[in-house]
Amino acid sequence: MELRVATDQPWAVPADVLALPIAGVPVFDGPLGELDRRSGGELSALAAFGELSAKRYGATLAAAGELPAGRILAVGAGDADAIDRETVVHLGAAIVRRLAGRPVRRLAIWLEPLAGRLDGGAVAVAELLARGVVEGGYDPQQPYRAERDAAPPILDELVLVVPGAADTAAVSRAAARGQVMGEGANWARDLANRPANEATPQVLAEEARAVATRHDLFVDVIDEHRAAELGMGMFLAVGLGSDNPPRLIVIRSGAEGERDAAGRHLALVGKGVCFDSGGISLKPADKMEEMKMDKTGACTVIAAAATVARLAPGTPLLAVAPAVENMPGPHSARPGDVVRALNGRTVDIINTDAEGRLILGDALTYAERLGATHVVDVATLTGAVARAFGHLVSGAFGSPQAWYDEFAAAAARAGERVWQLPLEEDYFPEMESWYADMVNTGGAEAGLIKSALFLRRFVTVPWVHLDIAGTATFRKATPYAAKGATGVSHATLVELALAGAR
Ligand code: BES
Ligand code: MN
Ligand code: ZN
Repeated sequence: MELRVATDQPWAVPADVLALPIAGVPVFDGPLGELDRRSGGELSALAAFGELSAKRYGATLAAAGELPAGRILAVGAGDADAIDRETVVHLGAAIVRRLAGRPVRRLAIWLEPLAGRLDGGAVAVAELLARGVVEGGYDPQQPYRAERDAAPPILDELVLVVPGAADTAAVSRAAARGQVMGEGANWARDLANRPANEATPQVLAEEARAVATRHDLFVDVIDEHRAAELGMGMFLAVGLGSDNPPRLIVIRSGAEGERDAAGRHLALVGKGVCFDSGGISLKPADKMEEMKMDKTGACTVIAAAATVARLAPGTPLLAVAPAVENMPGPHSARPGDVVRALNGRTVDIINTDAEGRLILGDALTYAERLGATHVVDVATLTGAVARAFGHLVSGAFGSPQAWYDEFAAAAARAGERVWQLPLEEDYFPEMESWYADMVNTGGAEAGLIKSALFLRRFVTVPWVHLDIAGTATFRKATPYAAKGATGVSHATLVELALAGAR
């Protein structure tokens, strides 16, 4: 998809479709009035008919009259005061999804109604819209079926219409950045959507190697033998029940331990459970098929490392992705088994379905051994976060607060919603074990907080834990996203890493 910035008025821009964001109740004066006139009064007539409104992500196709565009797509941006960065990403996605199955090659979007709503104006809007258009173009549909429904159009050209823009170079640079961000998220979605019979730990490792080769990054894949020599008892315990052996994937840009411009050696750690049956603490059959997406954190950190390498090559960054399959079998860890973690702590595995924290704990320790000074882990860790926040908001923990705040600022730049939860240490005594230093789950009460308290035992540097169990996949399509993997947190991680770019 080529990007172009047009400084003409929207009524002078040729395209297959010209998209007009509608913020608040449409008033047909100024440029919108001119567009209405040139469309032969089509827009105001549709508005009077109740067909055209600002309803968020609602989109109406209209005839273009004498405009050089083939058609107009009026797309609701909601209440003008409520427009934020996330809205703009989703608008871009909703526009392209609304055009599914239509012969559109050149799409123009008028930025003006949005530009005044964001800090950064047209430059910020261009980036987020371009990202949204790329993300909205992602539609895996039914990958294993011959017939497909109409897919979003594959665009030859996206025209960003910014009348009278002074700095078109800045606008196109921003749009190009957004496009790369969107492509990275889509790559993570592709990997996350693959079923467990195709995406084993070894396959994730091979994908990571391919990414590393493509972007000239260091890669190391630790197999079960090396993991045993190193003493990764928690990581290994989870993979015992499967014939597909575990792999701990490490990707790095820059030298070992190298500090970025912000003085950090940032590590992104992602949960890579290729299938989570629960193990001996077997899950119920209902919805168990969804547990093929339990590797999304791993897919996301690998994709984020690739995106950072594309946008700011050489930026020091570490990605660590422990990949396993959690299965019942003759070699599985049993409830009550006691293992020794890489950091020396002993853990009484009372529930083999609380496996994410086991593999992440050793991966966090290993990231620190590799020189990480700041860590973010991303995981589909608990059903509790999905019950509490649903599919739109991720739950997050962090310490110290200053590091959490930097993470939250990156999420805000990325237009992603996170909500901080407390690391309430007074709950930790409920996770003490008579046999070992701790158990791996401490009862249902405050289970979400306890999951983070467990992870905290394996980090000594500034750390954030992001639980994406609710947000990683959509059970049904929305106006702005296909069903399945959402790519959530990819943009946040990239923004956080790029804060250290030179
Ligand atoms: N992978 C699951 C969490 C999950 C649930 C992800 C729903 C996506 C959707 C995780 O490994 C798990 O099984 N968590 C348990 C923890 C419990 C045993 C302490 C849970 O949340 O029930
Ligand atoms: Mn589990
Ligand atoms: Zn899991």
